[in-house]
Amino acid sequence: MEQKINELLNTQINHEFYSAYLYFAMSTYFSEINMDGFAKYMKKQAKEELSHAQKIYDHLILRNEKITYKRIEAPDTDWVNPQDVLDNALKHEEFITSQIFEIAKAAKEANDFATKNFINWFIEEQLEEEDKFRKLKEKIKAFDECSCTIEAINRELDKDGE
Ligand SMILES: [Fe+2]
Ligand SMILES: [Fe+2]
Repeated sequence: MEQKINELLNTQINHEFYSAYLYFAMSTYFSEINMDGFAKYMKKQAKEELSHAQKIYDHLILRNEKITYKRIEAPDTDWVNPQDVLDNALKHEEFITSQIFEIAKAAKEANDFATKNFINWFIEEQLEEEDKFRKLKEKIKAFDECSCTIEAINRELDKDGE
């Protein structure tokens, strides 16, 4: 594997851990305002992010590649309302998608077919991740007008969570 691709994949492990950190922080935010369904949902997202980090880790190990550890940044938690949290989550997923595309691009340029094949799973996954938060954002758009709506979504998510 080219050094550049090794670095990109190691950086992506860090991004996935950061994503988990961010979603745990969002879960805390929802817990603090007693939106337990949303809290549970974000915790589930956080766990998924940890599994993404592990997937990349396992791939590097499989290919006998070096793993490098980097500092995980603390997320900014100054959200003003639930809508703001979900805006932030969607923007974050869009950023992650752009990073995944960078890996795909580098793999293509290096004729690294193994990485290219591996990263395809993440390309698919990112479509789902963005869609998930976009839909949830749409759902709570009515929050300002009717708090009963958010209560209903909260209940729905509560059922979805583990
Ligand atoms: Fe992820
Ligand atoms: Fe994600």
